[in-house]
Parts: sequence; C-alpha cells; structure tokens
Amino acid sequence: MYMKNYRITLLRGDGIGPEIVAEALKVLDAAGEKFQFRLEYTDALMGGCAIDATGQPLPDETVEACRAADAVLLGAVGGYKWDTLPGHLRPEAGLLGIRSALGLFANLRPAKIYGPLKGACPLRPDIIGDSMDIMVVRELTGGIYFGKRGRETVNGMEAAYDTEYYTTAEVERIAHVAFNSARKRGKKVTNVDKANVLESSRLWRETVLRVAEGYPDVELNHLYIDNAAMQLVRNPKQFDVILASNIFGDILSDEASQVAGSIGMLASASMGGGKLGLYEPIHGSAPDIAGQGIANPLATILSAAMLLRYSLDEEAAADAIETAVEKVLDQGLRTPDILAGDGIRVGTVEMGDAVVKAL
Ligand code: IPM
Ligand code: MG
Repeated sequence: MYMKNYRITLLRGDGIGPEIVAEALKVLDAAGEKFQFRLEYTDALMGGCAIDATGQPLPDETVEACRAADAVLLGAVGGYKWDTLPGHLRPEAGLLGIRSALGLFANLRPAKIYGPLKGACPLRPDIIGDSMDIMVVRELTGGIYFGKRGRETVNGMEAAYDTEYYTTAEVERIAHVAFNSARKRGKKVTNVDKANVLESSRLWRETVLRVAEGYPDVELNHLYIDNAAMQLVRNPKQFDVILASNIFGDILSDEASQVAGSIGMLASASMGGGKLGLYEPIHGSAPDIAGQGIANPLATILSAAMLLRYSLDEEAAADAIETAVEKVLDQGLRTPDILAGDGIRVGTVEMGDAVVKAL
C-alpha cells in the first residue's frame, strides 16, 4: 500500500532535550501507524552538543539538514557548561541562527489551560473562569534580537547598545499571520507595542492598522506592553490572539505559560513563508533535572502535534495526539512539575508510553 513519507530533522539538543524528544518520537510513530504515514528521522547537532562536537553552536550541515526536511523537531538547548562563552558562541546563538537561516519569522505559542490542570494555574478561579486559550503570535527574526548592536567607550566609560528595528514588510507579514490565526479561533487580535514611546512601535502600529483593513471580520485592539503584562494576570480571558514583536512576544509568552499552569505543557511552532517549520517546547533544557527521567515530555509531544498539523497537513493525527494528551491528564497521570493533590506520579518514559496507549 502507498504510504506518505515525511522527512523530519531532529535537533535533540542539550539537558532534557534528548529525553523528551525520544518520547515525542514514540508518539509520532504511533500516530503514523494509525494514520498511515511514515516518518524518516535525521539527527543534527545544535546548541551545546554542537559546540562540544564542532566548536560551533550551529554547524552548516545542521542548517542543510533542516532545509532538506519537511519539518524540524527541537528539544532544548543550553546548559551551565556553556554559560560563560561569548555571545556568538553560546547555544542560544544556534537557536537564533537556525530561526534566521530558515526564515522562520512567525512564532506561534498557544497558552491554554487544560481542564484537569486547572489547579496548577496560579490565578484565582474567579479570574480564570472555565478556560483560557491564548495564541501568542511573536515576530521571530527581526527587532532588537537582530538589530544593530555593539559596545563602545564613551568618555572613558564602557557602553553597549541593541537596536529595535522593523521594516513595514516585516510587520506586515507577521500581522497577516496573527489575523489569519484569529480567523480560525476567536476572531480577535490584541496588538502589543510601546507606541507611546518608541518610534519602531509607532511604525509597527500604523502597519498593523493598515493590514487590519483586510480583515474586517476580526476585532482589533491595542495595548502597550506594560499594560498587556498586567492584563494577562488581571483578566486573561480577554485575549484570543496576541500579536507582538520579538522581544515583547518573548516576555509575554513566558508570562502566559505560567498563567496556563506549567511551562512543561506548552508547545510552539516557528514558521516562515512555506510549509517548513521548527517545533519545540517553550521550556528550556532544564539541566538541573537532566538524566533523572522526570522531565515532562508533554510540551514536546504537543509540539509534534503542531508539526503534523502545520507542516505535514496531518490534521487528524494532530487532533488525535492532543486528545490523547488530554486523556492521560484525565487519568490523573502527572510528571512532578504538574503533580498536585491525588495525581499519579509518573516519569518521562511512562508519560510517553501512556500517550501512545491513549492514542
Ligand atoms: C525563547 C527563548 C529564546 C528567545 C532564547 C533561549 C534565545 O527565551 O525561545 O523564548 O529569547 O527567543
Ligand atoms: Mg523566551
């Protein structure tokens, strides 16, 4: 029988990265069996493991291997060992480098509260109500992360600068992603900027307003970043899609993840103009618990579901994985990071096995 075949490049990375990716692969393979497709995996080095092996956080072969794939699955990078290296040689430089090299300008970070994990939300039940479901759409290859930077000596004193810089084209394309995403969800975009102070934000807002004219069916409002950070804990239910620059989106997505309960649950997708995407949990490499078999693999498993949905168009398989994750949570299975009350404590591998079984 004919079977669809997809090529996935794996960047297992550092710390807990390899452990959680292993669980996601089990789930992907099980989904392939059930929905009749095959996944071929190629390993490539990025981050600390790449620095150890090659001296570079992002070797050229890794970029090539990612370009040749239908999608890229990433664990996490970084660790104490590499913390003292100069900026351009740190594991994080590999992550920024691959986003940029693949042109992945749109970072989609869903932050949702899973019913069985409501108790893990740090906000009062009357604030959170019966649900929270936010999609942070973060610009990923521009702004202050990639703007002009440097150090200089002024009047004998050391100084340093980074530049927030955006072109209209960069803002337009990420705004389109936000509006299109809102169309498939709650039809509301909250644009976040600092247009009361920053020139770059004024251009950002003008551009968003212009793009919005093409989406009369989507409601648009604007919040300054400081207010947005406050509103996210004051009344998170007001949000559907949050549109933000690289740095504002970085900050707000961590905040949203904490409101959602555990950072161990949240997946993300980084997309460019085409189908190729990079999928990763939004948490880090957690070097303090690496190798102990207790890391929560669910964010990586949910990232694998996003991979199936956005890069491979295997919508049914993606839905099935998400349903399976809800099922194991309903069964009470919990890794230590989400354990509370009478939850059943399980490790990384058991959690992965349970999702496969539920599938
Ligand atoms: C993230 C991370 C990265 C970022 C770091 C590790 C470079 O915080 O993906 O949110 O700032 O983009
Ligand atoms: Mg971050």
